[in-house]
Amino acid sequence: MATETNTPTPPMTGGNPSGAGSKHTIPSTAIFVTEKCYLRRYEVSDAEALAEAANDPEIVKYMRSSFPSPYSLADAHAFIAHCHSLPAPALSFGVFTLQGELAGSMSLDSPKGDLIYAGTRELGYFVARKFWGRGITSEAVQELTRWAFAKIPDLLRIEAAVSEPNMASQRVLQKAGFVKEGTRRLATVKNGEQNGEVIFGLIRTDIEA
Ligand SMILES: CC(C)(COP(=O)(O)OP(=O)(O)OC[C@H]1O[C@@H](n2cnc3c(N)ncnc32)[C@H](O)[C@@H]1OP(=O)(O)O)[C@@H](O)C(=O)NCCC(=O)NCCS
Repeated sequence: MATETNTPTPPMTGGNPSGAGSKHTIPSTAIFVTEKCYLRRYEVSDAEALAEAANDPEIVKYMRSSFPSPYSLADAHAFIAHCHSLPAPALSFGVFTLQGELAGSMSLDSPKGDLIYAGTRELGYFVARKFWGRGITSEAVQELTRWAFAKIPDLLRIEAAVSEPNMASQRVLQKAGFVKEGTRRLATVKNGEQNGEVIFGLIRTDIEA
């Protein structure tokens, strides 16, 4: 169960949400804290850690072509500036361990184009390889989606498009209650590899039911 921190609360220390085992203070800017991580908006000082986490071919291969590769410090600064320029509600966050280390990134982006999609946000994320398999993404996706539905009354739908071979990401979404809605066959080509794209969707009633 996540702890909300976007109302003034006493600072928490990392290690676990009760505070034992670490001297890191969970910042009051964290939007929530789970057993394994917290999410907060990016600060300029995150750029170096972001570049280090993102600059990995094993991450790039499942990201859209707009994701830089190699991922430089300048790319990280540009991304953070972009996040700061987004209109409210801007939903782009760093994912941090309870010890304060940047583990990854998670966004709920507005789909570009037609206003008929105004009630939809697209979920995207990555976690640095050294943190894989610890359940950080699963926990963060679960809590971010619930948090977003609670905070944004106009939000109708969260969706994610996953490359067909990316089983870890599909598993993360299924564990968070997303419904596998279909596959856009051979929708993508990346590094010369053709793949289907699996569409996952989550609507409010999927988690309220
Ligand atoms: C996808 C990604 C974010 C997962 O991060 P993570 O923190 O390791 O995820 P978690 O530990 O929370 O959960 C991963 C789940 O996938 C499962 N999994 C991992 N590899 C798998 C595979 N090859 N086949 C099936 N399941 C797999 C794990 O067992 C785990 O499920 P479980 O909890 O039931 O055991 C991470 O691998 C990543 O950043 N990949 C590159 C970028 C990316 O793919 N982004 C998403 C684009 S849609």
